[in-house]
Amino acid sequence: ALGGAGLLVPAVAGSAHATDLDPTTIPQFAQAMPVPEVLQPVCDLGTTSYYDISVEEADAEILPGRTTRVYTFNGSFPGPVIKAVSGRRVVVRQTNQLSVPTSIHLHGAHVPQSSDGSPGDLIAPQGGSKIYTYPNEQPHANLWFHDHAHHQESETVYRGLTATYLLTDDVEQRLNLPSGRYDVPISLRDARFDDSGQLVYEMVDFKSRNVQLANGKAWPYFEVEARKYRFRLFNTSNMRFYTLQLSDGSSFQQIGTDGGLLEKPLDVTSVSLSPGERADIVIDFSRYTAGTKLILTNTGPIFPGNPVDQVGRILQFRVTGPATDTSVVPSALRTLPALGSATVNRSFVLSIDETGATGDMYINGKTYDMDRIDTEIEYGATEIWTVHNGDAYTPHNFHIHLVQFRVLERNGQPVTSGPEYGLKDTVALMPGDTVKLQATFTGYEGTYVYHCHVFDHAAMGMMGNFRVSRSTTSSSTLRRQGHRR
Ligand code: C2O
Ligand code: CU
Repeated sequence: ALGGAGLLVPAVAGSAHATDLDPTTIPQFAQAMPVPEVLQPVCDLGTTSYYDISVEEADAEILPGRTTRVYTFNGSFPGPVIKAVSGRRVVVRQTNQLSVPTSIHLHGAHVPQSSDGSPGDLIAPQGGSKIYTYPNEQPHANLWFHDHAHHQESETVYRGLTATYLLTDDVEQRLNLPSGRYDVPISLRDARFDDSGQLVYEMVDFKSRNVQLANGKAWPYFEVEARKYRFRLFNTSNMRFYTLQLSDGSSFQQIGTDGGLLEKPLDVTSVSLSPGERADIVIDFSRYTAGTKLILTNTGPIFPGNPVDQVGRILQFRVTGPATDTSVVPSALRTLPALGSATVNRSFVLSIDETGATGDMYINGKTYDMDRIDTEIEYGATEIWTVHNGDAYTPHNFHIHLVQFRVLERNGQPVTSGPEYGLKDTVALMPGDTVKLQATFTGYEGTYVYHCHVFDHAAMGMMGNFRVSRSTTSSSTLRRQGHRR
């Protein structure tokens, strides 16, 4: 519940701002979009790379010529990129220098519970640290770090706690996709500022976050050569759903989604991303002459009340000049893992307190309880989950930890092609939507969460625990004996 949670006290004084910054006073396309720095390991030993990350406050230049106090990984906003390879372990020590506890989750990763960064597995503030181990025993995927401390993640993520983790493997490396400086991760998010240039955070603020950031800069430009570029797009916004297009309406290719490459590239004129989702796209700028300016636009918003004219623009591409390009996007990218046949069916309904009295949000009628196991799963089981957004007005989405799932059906229609025909860990649900997902729960036993990835909604209770274990009998016996967990 929202009301009694003392943890919701703003971690940085900020709510008492005088006036919002008028977004029309921010010069558009006045600063270059940076490419996030690749973090170097502190050491490589055998088959493991070790990293040290400090979770700390820092000043960032988000608005041209002004500084904003933000939360960061190692001082960068957004955080740096870790580049990992399947089969090679990554160990990260996260030291929390903030004044609030954090829990660093690697979104989309297949990891033991102890390294998942679950909502209650906190790193103490002011110098506490925790070591997370990422086995990387999963195929290539575009993953990302964010805070998951329950009831605080909405604010700490908003204040900057996100970073990128690109996991590659032989399947991806064998392809000759655009690489090096032609392969650019872009974190997209919105924000709201006061007139002193500081971030303004309010819970469930879908009306006033009217400044759009790409890699931590408000409305930047990015210089491109006239050739193919691969962009890995991450929606790290708390609440915003994007529908992205090029301003000339031209097509580009979508080559991947949350859990890596699609089977084959799709020619698209737009991609949609709900909070937490990723899209891997290739834009071929060779069709443009030097000097062309092109804008990546958002034709949303999906949450009502946003000023479309301001958030409609995201970033400007400036074509500099001709370039050689030996990269190719082949017509076959990868083979998806076999689906397997499901033995268990479950359903999940997302809803909210329609009276508005509590601010509670539910999965199957319950708000999140860290100590309650909502779903018991037999280790190794393949299951079909039917997830329904029972809310008449509010878009939600659904994210499952530990697994990459497949979307079998959307609103009764089988998904046999398109951007959802791939490995996913987060799926959008417009009001009334129903999706059928299939996942296999293997690799680790333990307790993990599923939740709406609108961070504010997770904080308001739209989250549940599932436990994967080799025998589900012991726990049900315990319950019959009255040992309530
Ligand atoms: Cu991206 Cu449970 O999180
Ligand atoms: Cu939601």
